[in-house]
Amino acid sequence: MSILTILEFPDKRLRTKAKEVTVFDDKTKILVSDMIETMYESKGVGLAATQIDVHQRVIVLDVSEEKNEPFCLINPVIIQKDGEEESEEGCLSVPGFFENIKRAEHIKVKAFDKDGKVFELDAKGLLSICIQHEMDHLLGKLFVDYLSPLKRQRIKTKLVKIHKQEGKQTK
Ligand code: NI
Repeated sequence: MSILTILEFPDKRLRTKAKEVTVFDDKTKILVSDMIETMYESKGVGLAATQIDVHQRVIVLDVSEEKNEPFCLINPVIIQKDGEEESEEGCLSVPGFFENIKRAEHIKVKAFDKDGKVFELDAKGLLSICIQHEMDHLLGKLFVDYLSPLKRQRIKTKLVKIHKQEGKQTK
C-alpha cells in the first residue's frame, strides 16, 4: 500500500470531472486500499480519487469513531434526497479552513463496491454530508464553491502563499 499526495486548492486538477469505473480488477482494489491508507494518514473522514489526481468515480469513507469501518463507493449516484442541514465542513484539499455548508439531510445512494457489486445505502448525519462532499469532488467541485467569492478568494490567497513557502508544485 502507498500514501498518495493530495492535491490542494486552487490546483486546477481538482476541477477535473471523474469518469465512470467500467472495469473492476486488482487495480481498482489497489486504488481503494491506497486511498483508505492516505485518508487515515491525513486524518480525514473521506477522500475522493480526484484529490489524488486519479479521475475515476471512486470515493472512500470512514466516519466511525474507532476508524475501523472503511468502505468505498464506486460510481455513486444519489437516488433520493430530502431535508436540509448545515454543518461545518473541512477538506483535505483545503487544509486549515472550515466553513458552514448546507446539504441534504438524508440521502439514498446507489453505488458499486470494489468487487463491482451494486448496493444501496441510506445515509444521515455526518455520513450523508461526507458522501455529498466527496461526490462533489468527482464533479470537480469543492466546498469553497458554496462560499461567497470574497471568502473563496481569501482562502485561495492564503493557500497560494503557503504553497509558495513550502515550494509546493501546483498546476
Ligand atoms: Ni474534500
